[in-house]
This record gives sequence, structure tokens and C-alpha cells, in this order.
Amino acid sequence: MFLKIENITIRLGKFNLKDINLEVKEGQYVTIIGPSGSGKSILLENIAGFYTPNKGKVYLKGEDITYKNIEDRNISIVYQDYVLFPHMSVYENILYGLRKKSTEKIDNEKEVREIATLLNIDHLLERKPLTLSGGEMQRTSIARALVVKPELLLMDEAFSALDYKIKKEMRKLVKDVAKKYGTTVLHVTHDFEDVWAMADMCVVLRFGEILQVGKPDEIFAHPNSDFVANFVGTNIFEATVVRKEPDLTILNADGFEVYSSCEAKIGEKVRLSIRPENIIITTTKIETSAKNEIEGMIIKVEKRGHIMELSVQINSIILIVMMTPNSYEHLSLALHSHVFLSFKATSVGLY
Ligand SMILES: Nc1ncnc2c1ncn2[C@@H]1O[C@H](COP(=O)(O)OP(=O)(O)O)[C@@H](O)[C@H]1O
Ligand SMILES: [Mg+2]
Repeated sequence: MFLKIENITIRLGKFNLKDINLEVKEGQYVTIIGPSGSGKSILLENIAGFYTPNKGKVYLKGEDITYKNIEDRNISIVYQDYVLFPHMSVYENILYGLRKKSTEKIDNEKEVREIATLLNIDHLLERKPLTLSGGEMQRTSIARALVVKPELLLMDEAFSALDYKIKKEMRKLVKDVAKKYGTTVLHVTHDFEDVWAMADMCVVLRFGEILQVGKPDEIFAHPNSDFVANFVGTNIFEATVVRKEPDLTILNADGFEVYSSCEAKIGEKVRLSIRPENIIITTTKIETSAKNEIEGMIIKVEKRGHIMELSVQINSIILIVMMTPNSYEHLSLALHSHVFLSFKATSVGLY
């Protein structure tokens, strides 16, 4: 295993990072999510070497690095604020990473220009950081972190200070560069779009413990607990398994039937989960291959940024559905509209 975190426990005042176990393969892009104060930064900084654990081991490429000095680890970390030297040019800032590291003579200039080109800052190399935009400064920080070809790149909310459009560009740039270099990345974020757009694997932390590890679609569509479901904004409600068909489980949820492609036994009481964005909303019954079609009424409409969030009531159950303001208008929806919701059996998770 490329990175192996084994039973890591860190006690800091009242906070405990408890018995963390995690395995990351070479080249994987891992996002770490969780509420504020759940220990995400402490976990990253332990891997970087800033915190020595009370218990447990960290292995990188099979080597025990638990007590290795920070500067002897080939690990780079990028934070939310761009920690650049204001008196140095972009070129010198990136070069700084290499100066710290290399004892042998390598072609430093070539390395700096190569990474600067990949991150689209090659035209800014003579500039001083304070003359750059936020996105350009953050690309410089990432270039400095990557120029040493680290074995691990750690990012702690690295995109948080950037605006929506720049963030979108950064995701693609960083993902492409990490892929080109084969860099393994651990990226702490509170933005679920980072998870969707970048992650091969996602870790959910709460109160210093790992609650769930999985591919993004597993976490979002099949959360393993109420906490994860609520945290990632998934619809959940109780249901009982009433029938089985080949590859399908049919459940009764407060009087209406729901089809799921997940396994459960007849009679079992389970929780259903459905992502808001996997629900299609229409005003008339439509021809669809989706197994699930239910009727309800819009009881709340809220605008959240670029998206409309509708609450649709079906008996006593309320489902959240997301749509763009455009399609909301196009369908002439309004409060108390009568609607049909359809979603595939594969979108329905059970736990
Ligand atoms: N040096 C410290 N001493 C005591 N408590 C700390 C220390 N550093 C962080 N904490 C506490 O540990 C908890 C987790 O912190 P952190 O890893 O920064 O959370 P986050 O998930 O928001 O990144 C927080 O409650 C924080 O106040
Ligand atoms: Mg933090």
C-alpha cells in the first residue's frame, strides 16, 4: 500500500483523533470531508509530520515515517491562504521549493518553467505575488508544492478562498497535473463539488473518527448513517421491504412503493436514501424507464445560489429536489403545484 495510516490516535486538549485507519493507493485522489472541528487539518498535519501521534503508525511506500522529520518527508502541503514570499518573484517563489530540497545539481530552471506552464502561470514568472489575482497566487502555491515532485500532495481547503469560476478551472488544472505526475493527493474540502469533480475516494470524518470511506457516488447515494446522509444533503426516510423481484427490492415508505436495486430481506426495516439531483420532476406523468414514479405537492421553494431547492410532500414524507431556476420557470412550477417525481431504482440506496 502506498500510504497506510494505522490506528493513529492524537490527543489535543479536549479533542481526540481516534484510531484512524486509512489506506491510499499510489496516484489516488482522496478528498476528506466533515464538519468544522472534526479533525481534518490535524489528520493532514500528522501525515505531514507536524503532529506526533500518541499511538499508531504512518507508512509511506512501506517505510515507517511516524517519527520522521518534516523536512525529510517528501510531502508538500498547500493551505487556503497563499503563503508566498512577497519580496520574491513568482519564479523565485517556485524555485524556493527546489532550493530547500536538492543537493545535487538539477536543471532547476527547466523544472520551474515546466510546472509553471502546466499551471498556466508561465507568463507571470517575473511578477511579485501581490500583483496577482487569488487564483494566480494559489496556482503559484501549488506550483511550488509540486515542483519538488512530492510523494504526497496535501491540500487543506486550498480552493476555499477562490470564487466559483476560478475554482472550477483549478479543479481541472490540479487534477490534470496530479495525473500527469502520478501524484497521490489528500485534499480536505468543504465543497462537495470538489468531491464530485476530483475524488477517486472520499473520507468522511466526525468528532475525530472516520465514519465512511468510499467512492463519491457511494458516499452520496449510499451513505452508511444518518449523519453522513444529512451531512451530504441526501434525502432519507424509513421504509419496510415488502417484495422482491429479480435484482429489485420493493419497499413501502409511508404508503407508497419505492424500487431499489440494493439488497435487503423481506420484512426488514431500512433507511432509503435518494440524492436530490437524481430526482426528475414533471407536472404530468411521463414515459420513463425510471422504476419509481410518485405524486406529491411542492410545499417549499428556496433559492440557493445557482440552484432551486424544492420540498415535495408525499403523505408524511418530504423529499428535497434540486433544479435550475431555468427549468423551474420552464415547467411553470409554483408553491402548491402538483408534481410527479421519478428516479431510477439504482439511485435508491438502503442502509
Ligand atoms: N493544538 C491544539 N490543542 C488543542 N486543541 C486543538 C489543537 N489544534 C486543534 N485543536 C482542536 O482540535 C479539533 C479539530 O481541529 P481541526 O483538525 O483543525 O478541525 P477541522 O476538521 O476543522 O480541520 C478542533 O476542535 C480544534 O479546536
Ligand atoms: Mg481545518
